[in-house]
Amino acid sequence: MSIYPRGFLWGSATSSHQVEGNTNNDWTVWEKTIADLYSKTPHYSYNPKYVSSYIKTEKTKKDNFLSGKASDHYNLYKKDIDLLKSLGQNSYRFSIEWSRVQPKEGEFNEEALKHYRDVITYCKGNNIEPIVTLWHFTNPVWIAQIGGWENTQTVDYFLKYAKKVVEYLGTEVKYWITINEPEVYSADCYLAGNKLVQKKNFYSYNKVLFNLLKAHKASYLLIKHLDNNSLVSIAKHFTYFHLRDPLNYTDRVIKRGLDWFQNYRILNSIENYCDFLGINFYFTIEIGSPKKVSNYISIGPRVFLDNTSRYSDLGWPLFPENIYKVLINLKRYNKPILIAENGLADVEDKHRKWFLQKTFISLEKSIEAGVNLIGYIHWSLLDNFEWSDGFGPRFGLIEVNYKTQERRIRPSAYYYSKYIKDNITI
Ligand code: BGC
Repeated sequence: MSIYPRGFLWGSATSSHQVEGNTNNDWTVWEKTIADLYSKTPHYSYNPKYVSSYIKTEKTKKDNFLSGKASDHYNLYKKDIDLLKSLGQNSYRFSIEWSRVQPKEGEFNEEALKHYRDVITYCKGNNIEPIVTLWHFTNPVWIAQIGGWENTQTVDYFLKYAKKVVEYLGTEVKYWITINEPEVYSADCYLAGNKLVQKKNFYSYNKVLFNLLKAHKASYLLIKHLDNNSLVSIAKHFTYFHLRDPLNYTDRVIKRGLDWFQNYRILNSIENYCDFLGINFYFTIEIGSPKKVSNYISIGPRVFLDNTSRYSDLGWPLFPENIYKVLINLKRYNKPILIAENGLADVEDKHRKWFLQKTFISLEKSIEAGVNLIGYIHWSLLDNFEWSDGFGPRFGLIEVNYKTQERRIRPSAYYYSKYIKDNITI
């Protein structure tokens, strides 16, 4: 008998700008300004030493930095949901593109709203639970023009948009995710300065983070007011900080500080505004003095990207088993937990099956240990546009041929499908 609770959500995710194609938002504008430069001078957010040669080659092509038609999911959504269903998944996380719904201030586009209602109806008609994200990193151009999330007015505009969407889609949606990874967006765009507005300003970063969290809290209350039966959360990126030597006092202090900054201060601030915790897990960061410093990538004194035998194509060290420790740490909030994203860039599908196997063993262990886990959503359903890294990284359970828009299911997706089949409890 399976250990997973009845109604467990097994699925995969996408976000509008990354898959839909033909979007017109602030990222579309930004891409055009950097495509030339980024294809001539490769930009790496992590350790280029472990980045695959495939990605390195893809990064030299200018078109890869322009989202363009992306995976044409706006038109092909039925086909993609059919594929998701054929893989035995029972839920689909996707996002609504604010710039389509509200291309101009005060103007709501009925056709776009209808499109998203059609997507939801199609999911429901196929017994797929839609998990709907309201904001996944993109803003309408007019919002960017008033200063984006640095401007407190954006919170009010977001609420008007959220109200319209939630009223329009009615009670068809049970699971809402308001804001995706506020801390990643604010840190990447306003602190590290490697995406979109490219600022390196602590004040702006704080303001943006504050406003995004404010938008989450206010939209949580709004959605609950409109439909008290809905279940609402944020999607929080959780970084696992691993202690090389758990007894080392200095390292424990560093871990506490980083954990607070990166994870808990955000979760603490929104814990009363979440019916469940949506968690995105990708990263383990090691604290302590590595045995052979040369093999490690230092990202701060005594803080390293650990050395391992497995890396994703983007050069991210893979420690899927640590999802167990993340989940155990989150027990303190006493809330149901949804893994809202978890995955890797792997064009050859070399590690994905292993990654899923390790993940599932850890999920089972965590449920045994009393974690109230309600679902696992893999990132991603489809290959897609990976923001400033462009089309190189291939996160999909389903491969997309961007020239022909053909889909091909990767072998690891069949493994996931078999695992679901063996573990589904209706
Ligand atoms: C984001 C996705 C992104 C994925 C892989 C997450 O942080 O929500 O949009 O594609 O990570 O980098």
